Amino acid sequence: MKKEIYAIILAAGSGSRMQTETKKQFLLYQNKPLWWQSFITFYHSPFIHGIILVFPEEEQCYAKAVAQAEALLKEHNHTLPVFFCKGGALRQDSVYNALSITPPTATHVLVHDSARPFFTAFLITKLVEELNGGMKAVAPSLPLSDTIKEFAVTKEYKKFVTNTPNRNFLRAVQTPQAFSFTELLQAHRHIREKQLTITDDAMAMEELGIPVLLIDGESSNHKITHKEDLSMLTKQSFYPCCGYGYDVHKFQGNRPFVLGGVTFDTDMKIEAHSDGDVLIHALMDALLSCMAEGDIGKHFPDSSKEFENISSLILLDKVMEKWKQSKLQLSHVDLTVICQKPKISPYTVQIKKNICRLLSLSENQVNIKATTEEGLGFTGNSQGIKAVALVSAVKIG
Ligand code: CTP
Ligand code: MG
Repeated sequence: MKKEIYAIILAAGSGSRMQTETKKQFLLYQNKPLWWQSFITFYHSPFIHGIILVFPEEEQCYAKAVAQAEALLKEHNHTLPVFFCKGGALRQDSVYNALSITPPTATHVLVHDSARPFFTAFLITKLVEELNGGMKAVAPSLPLSDTIKEFAVTKEYKKFVTNTPNRNFLRAVQTPQAFSFTELLQAHRHIREKQLTITDDAMAMEELGIPVLLIDGESSNHKITHKEDLSMLTKQSFYPCCGYGYDVHKFQGNRPFVLGGVTFDTDMKIEAHSDGDVLIHALMDALLSCMAEGDIGKHFPDSSKEFENISSLILLDKVMEKWKQSKLQLSHVDLTVICQKPKISPYTVQIKKNICRLLSLSENQVNIKATTEEGLGFTGNSQGIKAVALVSAVKIG
């Protein structure tokens, strides 16, 4: 049977332990409400057919949350079916409401607390693998590092230990938890009829005697619960990224030979609209690539008079203006010049100085090298010159 898996994201709680004015699921994380982080992780999983978002039932709060969600969905051009529903007084009521509007074609559901924004798509894959193997209830879990005590409270409000369960047989469970849809709906109906209180959905399945499989969870999959957990939302994330640039110029025309901002002492001439600095052009393309901003042709079209004859260092400065507005931090620049002649090595020190200055990099962050192509091709017979640039950076999220 083909699986049709829906994700239920619970964001209908009151966040009473967090004590923030804004409910914790709506606190901003990377400029989006916290629940969005879970949404995106489900959204990018190939196993998810649709997503059900559960927001607080209080009319004003619900309307505001739905409007915010719709705006975000529109902005991100989403294509998966998304449903909204109101939560209930208890978490289990919110789950029940979501199950009640889940399309009847669903075969499975993944129930997730939006207060756990850091789970990964890999965890979804592991859960789905177990569903594929025929499991009806699967929960991610971690071993405990603390010893757990059961206790009783005396009349004087003192707590006395009544039991110490063997830690080796205890696990802390997380979400998302994965279930067969019909069985979970049945299990939730059962606990409603019996008026039982549960703290996770696996418990509902346990009530029906359905085996719940525990798989390894993720240590980063914390639940944002108390005020001190807020620091987890302010940590910056760093993504590595790189950009590649390549450019060619013909040895022709009447422009003096300029490379990396240095005018060479040679009779060789370059054909170009600007000053024909092939190295700086490759470097600008690599920088623009890193910013996902196209190429120099887009920013400085050679059809424009404005850029005729212009020094490429001025154009590089404009690219760096853009760079400073991005959230990127340059790590390293690797530049290669490929030509038969002129000889590049007498000029590399000066070129490197120029690049370091313009990009605010230190000398160990820039490498400049040159090579010939052994007399082969257009560089080999000195018809032209090419340059390759590789820029690496970190994106600060
Ligand atoms: N939740 C829900 N409906 C409820 C209660 C909780 O959808 N009636 C959701 C919360 O939004 C949260 C998840 O269930 O994403 C786990 O619950 P918890 O961490 O307890 O969140 P809150 O109930 O909001 O917080 P608190 O218990 O501190 O009030
Ligand atoms: Mg709660």
